[in-house]
Amino acid sequence: MLVVAALSLKGGVGKTTVALGLAGAAQQHGVPALVVDLDPQANATIALDVGPTAATVADVLDDPRPSVVRRAIAPSGWGEGLDVLVGAEQSERHNHPDPSGTQLTRLRRALERLEATDEDLAGPYRLVIIDCPPSLGQLTRSALAAADRAVLVTDPTMFAVSGVQRAFDAVQAERARGNPELQPLGVLINRVRPRNTEHAFRIDELRELFGPLVFTGVLPDRSAVQQAQGACLPIQRWDTPGAREISAVFTGLLGRLLRSARRAELAAPPPTH
Ligand SMILES: Nc1ncnc2c1ncn2[C@@H]1O[C@H](COP(=O)(O)OP(=O)(O)OP(=O)(O)O)[C@@H](O)[C@H]1O
Ligand SMILES: [Mg+2]
Repeated sequence: MLVVAALSLKGGVGKTTVALGLAGAAQQHGVPALVVDLDPQANATIALDVGPTAATVADVLDDPRPSVVRRAIAPSGWGEGLDVLVGAEQSERHNHPDPSGTQLTRLRRALERLEATDEDLAGPYRLVIIDCPPSLGQLTRSALAAADRAVLVTDPTMFAVSGVQRAFDAVQAERARGNPELQPLGVLINRVRPRNTEHAFRIDELRELFGPLVFTGVLPDRSAVQQAQGACLPIQRWDTPGAREISAVFTGLLGRLLRSARRAELAAPPPTH
């Protein structure tokens, strides 16, 4: 099970769009996936068209026992192979600016239990996708404590460089604190307008500073993104040229993610028993 967090320290740059795009790509390619909605705005839960649940991620963060996790997971209305650990406004109470180590690892513990072969639990999942809120409080740090990979999302604007740098610093801080497995998968630039010279300038600036960590595939600004989200459908099922362009980028991102997991498995020392 590979856990990936969609992260940015700035609001509205496309974290939820990336989480949803990856979820749609996973479903399209037959990769069983779970979306964890850590944002108190619960935008991902709404777009994934989930029915009511007896618990939410806020309850899981209070108490990560399997019985609570089970009650907070529901199938996505997108269809087979995709579940959601649902978000709720109440998760805001878990967004302390200075959380303890125990608080930070609750989500990790809950997800580890999903990997155990408990037949009553949902899954098994090959991919867990965490949608983070736009701040570096306890919720985003819990995501980094639980994740194997982080996708840093940015828009091509003046504040992109400092935002991406701070997101990298957050990843490095978590690696040093308690999760050495965490790796930045890369920087995904969203809402690019091809003939916008300011965007071209900012993309060059990001590439100069962060080199190969900036994905060559960028997400263009396309109204299909908002239309598909508004209709609670995956972009992969929105049949317009713009939607197909966006879907192709997410297929590439999914491939990159799964290949990086495979490389890590091959590099791991063999089991000792
Ligand atoms: N590539 C795109 N083309 C067009 N619209 C987009 C694109 N990416 C995101 N949007 C729109 O921009 C808005 C913000 O995107 P999104 O919700 O994904 O950002 P976010 O980083 O998750 O925001 P928040 O910080 O509030 O959680 C949404 O209305 C979304 O539909
Ligand atoms: Mg969001």
